Amino acid sequence: MPQTYKNIVVLTGAGISAESGLATFRAANGLWNNHPVEEVATIEAFQRNPEYVHDFYNEMKPELYGAKPNPAHLALSKLQKEYPGKVSIITQNVDTLHEKAGSNGVLHIHGQINQAVCLNCGQVMESWGEVNTETVCPHCQVAGMMKPNIVFFGESLLCMNEVDRLLQSCDLFVSVGTSGVVFPAAAFVQIAKQYGAETYEFNLETTSNNFYFDHHIMGKAGETLPKFVEVLLAK
Ligand code: APR
Repeated sequence: MPQTYKNIVVLTGAGISAESGLATFRAANGLWNNHPVEEVATIEAFQRNPEYVHDFYNEMKPELYGAKPNPAHLALSKLQKEYPGKVSIITQNVDTLHEKAGSNGVLHIHGQINQAVCLNCGQVMESWGEVNTETVCPHCQVAGMMKPNIVFFGESLLCMNEVDRLLQSCDLFVSVGTSGVVFPAAAFVQIAKQYGAETYEFNLETTSNNFYFDHHIMGKAGETLPKFVEVLLAK
């Protein structure tokens, strides 16, 4: 491990929020087991039954609103604040636990549960309340055109220009709590490696991206990540 990294990029997935009590997607009791992706996370599903899709995300809001960051989120926030190099967080999660832990500039490439986008004017509104097919856009005042600001399968990811810049300039890439099966996020480690980054994976198990990681830190992120951050800060 070099003395100091200049640009650390951290990619997080549902696993980092598991110890905050939030369900992951592909575990035995995962979100996608109870609600097939085809019914709640595709453009076709939203066009077919917008009320049902709005309800799915509205029902998630109270739990995500009340969720608390765990030591893994707090460790990343401490790293961002105290590390001499730049620390950027890219998350696939739609919860706001990184922000609650004090992190800033978090890139939500799959969107955020507390946001909705107007399909008429493109403006994004923040709301932890219910959004549905009657909601009026606060910007253009048109009703019934709001969509959860969640990136559905088949849609383009958000913040990708910034993500590309970060991946091409990072010298340490850290993946935390993601199964590495959903692209293009699952390819981020490969891009970082191609540009010379050292790569770490924090997970309960090795994932399908195994080949691209120089280091595998097994265990619960709430335990392993704080220790890793302490080592980085001690340098
Ligand atoms: N500590 C570390 N890793 C954990 C923990 C934990 N406490 N708990 C679970 N994990 C790991 C699991 O082993 C798994 O590899 O987190 C990963 C969660 O995988 P998924 O449920 O597939 O979630 P994620 O990788 O974030 O999914 C990516 O898929 O459906 C889309 O948009 C959705 O953003 C999501 C994307």
